Amino acid sequence: MVIRGGRVVSPDRIIEASVAIEGGHIVAVGHDDVMPAAREEVRADGLFLLPGAIDSHVHFRDPGYPHKETWKTGSAAAACGGVTTVFEMPNTNPPTGTVEALRIKLRAAESSYVDFGIHGLLGDDSVAHLEDLIDAGVTSFKAFVGNTFGNLPAPTDGALLEGFEKLAPLGIRTVVHAENSSIMARRQQQMEAAGRIDALAHLAARPAVAEIEAIGRVLTLAEWTGARVHIAHHSAADSLYLIRDAKRRGVDVTAETCPQYLLLNTNDMLRLGGIMRLNPPIREARHNQPLWDALMDGTIDMIATDHAPHTPEEKTRESIWACDCGFPGVETQMPLMLTEVNRQRATLMDYVRWSAVNPARAWGLYGTKGVIASGAHADIAFVDMARAGTLAQGRLQSISKISPWHGRAVQGFPVHTLLRGRFVMRDGQLVRDAAGWGRSVKTIQQMPAPRPRNTEHYSSAILKTPEGVRPNALPDEDVPR
Ligand code: NCD
Ligand code: ZN
Repeated sequence: MVIRGGRVVSPDRIIEASVAIEGGHIVAVGHDDVMPAAREEVRADGLFLLPGAIDSHVHFRDPGYPHKETWKTGSAAAACGGVTTVFEMPNTNPPTGTVEALRIKLRAAESSYVDFGIHGLLGDDSVAHLEDLIDAGVTSFKAFVGNTFGNLPAPTDGALLEGFEKLAPLGIRTVVHAENSSIMARRQQQMEAAGRIDALAHLAARPAVAEIEAIGRVLTLAEWTGARVHIAHHSAADSLYLIRDAKRRGVDVTAETCPQYLLLNTNDMLRLGGIMRLNPPIREARHNQPLWDALMDGTIDMIATDHAPHTPEEKTRESIWACDCGFPGVETQMPLMLTEVNRQRATLMDYVRWSAVNPARAWGLYGTKGVIASGAHADIAFVDMARAGTLAQGRLQSISKISPWHGRAVQGFPVHTLLRGRFVMRDGQLVRDAAGWGRSVKTIQQMPAPRPRNTEHYSSAILKTPEGVRPNALPDEDVPR
């Protein structure tokens, strides 16, 4: 296949080029004269060719909650959103903290339209067999340090440290939902007791300090152990300095934020109520611009969506405490962000850095994914920056047909999505028989060797009493006079 007439976007340039694809891989990018002969020509006149987006944070609910989403519907939403690789979260039922649960999930994922990684659960119960989970196919881990949908207990700090000690030498990155459960539980209890059921009470129960404290704690453990960490859904302006400083010190931390933290704030709360309930909460308007600035200066590495589908009924109950947390996003991320590019808040090159290059690097996929270059997978979002429209929840592929973006005017859409050389979305339509084309990225993942730190604490040697040391050792002789 040769794609002709498009403009290829990378983080540092946009060039008019043809792209030749064979066997699912890109074999040439350049002037049309040097393209090999093609069996199939695809025209991309007027379109931009972006590396398919890599979404580090989706919840496809399968197994456990198929009435909210399945791998088929969630990955269809990804395909239609220009997203070619997703990393799926372990708060399913059963949670992805055992090899058996992982096998169930991998079977469900066989219907995926897009490529995927699986975040295994790092919790008190699973910390003893992280290696087994890695061997069985997880690409990475997730620690729910703050309580959220699924009510998985937060790992104790002890378990988190042990997990990081084990994962550090392996170079495997752990995603952290960073909020302080103790602060939030107490606040929520007080607010419920006071009779508050309004949407703003959710924000009041999860103040920014809960995020600041948890990020600080996680970074301390990451820095001590040398473990790679990834801060999920960064929401607050006030915690950015922690990531900025940690990066300066050489901590291998990456961070994501989501369109909802960049573009929504409490001004939208009255209109949207429980639809907007999510963790961490969407905050006051003063947080929006600092998050953009953090993307621009590299403090925040990437855009993810935290695609967290629930049914309309589950999102619109009278009391905010009864509304499930989260909303779908994998399908709307690209049009929302491209609209901001059209508004000149960022360039297409910035966008590609946040949507594809940096996530590919964080998960050890860069070169094979995250770039349109010879040797890479032919994962391409064909983007029409002129196409304008209105986001409509009823048209989403997700089962969760309720979205805070409903009715929002956007300009800039993915019109075709190519995954390893095959269209999974074409002319805005899902290519239905591409279900199951998605593969785990586990086999291509390469996490380079990390920089060791404080290694004397890692080994199980600490469980053995050193030779020559007796329990409650007393001096052999009497204290000399
Ligand atoms: C997510 C979900 O529904 O699974 N909800 C949310 O509010 N973000 C869980 C999560 O990512 O915290
Ligand atoms: Zn989360």
